[in-house]
Amino acid sequence: MHIAIIMDGNGRWATQRGAPRTFGHRAGIQTVRRIVEAAPGLGVSTLSLFAFSADNWRRPPEEVSALMGLLGAYIGSETERLITKGVRVSFIGRRDRLPAKLLSQIARLEAATAGGAALQVRIALDYSSRAAILQAALALVPERATLDGFARTISAPADHAPDVDLLIRTGGEKRLSDFLLWESAYAELWFTDTMWPDFEPQDLADAINDFSQRDRRFGGLARVA
Ligand code: FPP
Repeated sequence: MHIAIIMDGNGRWATQRGAPRTFGHRAGIQTVRRIVEAAPGLGVSTLSLFAFSADNWRRPPEEVSALMGLLGAYIGSETERLITKGVRVSFIGRRDRLPAKLLSQIARLEAATAGGAALQVRIALDYSSRAAILQAALALVPERATLDGFARTISAPADHAPDVDLLIRTGGEKRLSDFLLWESAYAELWFTDTMWPDFEPQDLADAINDFSQRDRRFGGLARVA
């Protein structure tokens, strides 16, 4: 099962507590840790996490650099544990605008966890789904274009994942914000008002439980009971 999560609400969670927004991102990283640990036990094989969108560069430079720093710190503190747990991590999105230090941390994490088989975690960083679709379209040879081939072109082979089964967004908004548009063509959607720092493994279990009761018809007819 491929679950994609738009981890929204860090900033508001912090503001509600009279704290700077980066406090919320710090708490959000703790949630990432808990959810990554819980995912394999809940039947999740791929987890795509929206960490930073191509549009997030519009935020104040202090917040952007705090986020990049927190990601680097996450990589530094978590690599050993991810290896032990069999988690393979890769990053989707543009790389040419990321700070050099973070880039080398990313490359090391991807290499160190490449053998993980318990869970695939894809972290979307400087990511725009429309840009990814455009890039794949430009790489296509029209007369050999197939839907399957396109799906494989849209991410590098190491990052390739099946279509999204369930897309979760925390923080109360109900939109896709340019995340995995192609891959979510038949995804089930699950929205919660819970802010990302408050999102617990039990919430993930609830979302999966709800998902498992849906009738996914993929354009066909309803299941006969
Ligand atoms: C949305 O909250 C969250 C982000 C833009 C960043 C999410 C990033 C993390 C939780 C850290 C990612 C870390 C790893 C390791 C994947 P917001 O700032 O938009 O909150 P708001 O909507 O309340 O302002």
